[in-house]
Amino acid sequence: MREDVIGRANVEDTPELDRYYHELGRQESYALWTVANSIEPWHPQPTSLPQMWSYKAMRPLVLQALDLVSPEKAGRRVIALENPGRKGTSACVGWLYSGLQVMKPGESATAHSHASSALRFIIEGKGAYTVVDGHKMDLAAGDFVITPNGTWHDHGVESDGAVTIWQDGLDMLLVNQLDANFYAVHPDLVQKSNHPLNDSTMVYGGAGLLPAGGEAWSKPYSPSSNTNGAAPTRRWSTPRRRPTARPTTAS
Ligand SMILES: [Fe+2]
Repeated sequence: MREDVIGRANVEDTPELDRYYHELGRQESYALWTVANSIEPWHPQPTSLPQMWSYKAMRPLVLQALDLVSPEKAGRRVIALENPGRKGTSACVGWLYSGLQVMKPGESATAHSHASSALRFIIEGKGAYTVVDGHKMDLAAGDFVITPNGTWHDHGVESDGAVTIWQDGLDMLLVNQLDANFYAVHPDLVQKSNHPLNDSTMVYGGAGLLPAGGEAWSKPYSPSSNTNGAAPTRRWSTPRRRPTARPTTAS
């Protein structure tokens, strides 16, 4: 793409250059000026289109998946959101992925790890939980959970819970573009948790406060995996004893 602008590539085709480009191609190379204006646009040129997904419309379809596939066979029972301008890329927008995951009481997903980072917003349900690097936390509607890249994580719904739907968000498509992703299944399939339930929130959930006396948190992400956005007082509405044994923050 030629541009008649100073500083931009504007080389006309000639028979001599055509032969030259052909020789470059035989050496798996090319002349940058033939593509420079395309691969370095003046400004971002997103192909994603505005799209609104109606939860009212999506919810029955998501619940339908409960009877159609098991989490064992599906790996993760998720209905993903596809941007109409990004067909074929699995993207919700740009290179970001998002989907609605649904689980029945008593179901759990295999513990795993990947290079991409994930976040989870709980929309509805009861009795759901996530375990991040051995730290288990219960989940309720309005909870916002992070599973940073490289952490072991698994999730499920307790047998006395209710059907739970949450929205996942991952940067895996972007990580894939960098050829940097991996996926690993935990050797035990389900993580063992040696920490008190919700310990990460109890230890690190106090705004402006850090626990005294223990080892310092050294990982490059928040040690508090769960933030309750819809009901910020829920976790503290009934007194909970702080864990007597200080949980470690490392996996
Ligand atoms: Fe994951």
